[in-house]
Parts: sequence; C-alpha cells; structure tokens
Amino acid sequence: MSLALDSAAQDLLFREARTANTFTDEPVTDEQVQAIYDLVKYGPTAFNQTPLRITLVRSPEARERLVKHMAEGNQPKTATAPLVAILSADNEFHEELPALLPHFPQAKDVFFSERPVREQSAVLNAALQAAYFIVGVRAAGLAAGPMTGLDFAGLQKEFLDADHTPLMVVNIGKPGEDAWFPRSPRLAYDDVVTTV
Ligand SMILES: Cc1cc2nc3c(=O)[nH]c(=O)nc-3n(C[C@H](O)[C@H](O)[C@H](O)COP(=O)(O)O)c2cc1C
Repeated sequence: MSLALDSAAQDLLFREARTANTFTDEPVTDEQVQAIYDLVKYGPTAFNQTPLRITLVRSPEARERLVKHMAEGNQPKTATAPLVAILSADNEFHEELPALLPHFPQAKDVFFSERPVREQSAVLNAALQAAYFIVGVRAAGLAAGPMTGLDFAGLQKEFLDADHTPLMVVNIGKPGEDAWFPRSPRLAYDDVVTTV
C-alpha cells in the first residue's frame, strides 16, 4: 500500500520483468522505440544534460559487424534479438545545454568547459538514462537484455566516434523459449539501507 503505482504495473516493470536471453521473431518497430524514448526522456539528469545516445542496429550487415565485438557467450543473443541498441554517452553534450537548460545557459561554460569533467558527467548521467531506457522497454511490454560483455574499443571504432563513450548493448524483443536464467536473489533492505 506504500506504492502509488498499481500492482500490475509494479509486476510489469520490476517483479515479473526479467533479463531475456532468447527472443521470439516478433519485430520491434521504430514506433515502439519512439514511444519508449518519448517516455523515458523525462528521467532526470544533472543540469538536464541528457547525454544518452542510442544507435539502433537494424540492417543485417550492421548486426554482423556488431556481433563480432560481443563476448562469445553473448553472440547468439545479439545475433537473434529482433532489435539491438548500442547505448553511448555523448561527451560533447554541453553543446546542447543552452537549449536544454534555457534558464541557465551559462552552465555550458561555467561547469563543462573541460573535457574530463564532461566525460565523467556524461557517463554517469547516460548510465542513469540507460536504466530509464531498460525500464521503458519493459513498460512497452518488451524484454531487455543489457550487456557489457563486449570489446568496447572495437565497438566504439566500428559504430561511434571519439566523442561517444559506449556504455552497453541492449537486446530488445518478446522473450522466447527458455528466456530466463533462474532468478538470482537480491540483497535485503537491511543489507542495503542505513539510516543516520
Ligand atoms: C549493465 C549490465 C550488463 C550486463 N551484461 C551482461 C552480459 O554481458 N551478458 C549477459 O548474459 N548478461 C548480462 N547482464 C544481465 C544481468 O546478469 C541480469 O540483468 C541480472 O542478473 C538480473 O537478471 P534478472 O533480470 O533476470 O533478474 C547485464 C546486465 C546489466 C544491467
């Protein structure tokens, strides 16, 4: 009773949502991805910097180029998922800041004139957005399979540029046969939460 979200939505987003390892053939449309993005874009980031960038890997040729950078155990998942997205952090996000933070356009120069500061901020905030994205995929009734078992340098060279730091690859689709590993335990509230 402590949560405002109804129980079915809690199940969809968290309790029954699992990390899928196999997928059906049912396509994931651009309209679905657009709906997911238009929901999760409201998740908060520092200075509203929204540094997450999403590369949808749609063509068979691009899929082949991606699979070769995945760890061996991840390759079949990335080869067969209906849609695969590369999530990256834009280290030059400050260029958009005057538009994204109109009440404080000076933030671009005051806080983010130095590249190492931008990189740190971009990775933290894009990782937050990656989490929003995964929950958004679930909100669309789809399963996500995030993966970091991959050759990051190879992936960056193949699909991105020096201004974009790859974060993870996400397989997206309806779960297929034997899609789940057994659910692993989670830490209990008392193991995680302290009050001072
Ligand atoms: C950032 C991230 C990276 C992950 N990398 C891999 C991976 O490389 N290969 C893999 O099979 N699973 C990977 N996983 C899946 C996790 O093991 C899985 O989400 C976790 O065990 C929870 O599983 P559940 O959602 O079924 O409870 C990754 C998950 C996250 C969030």
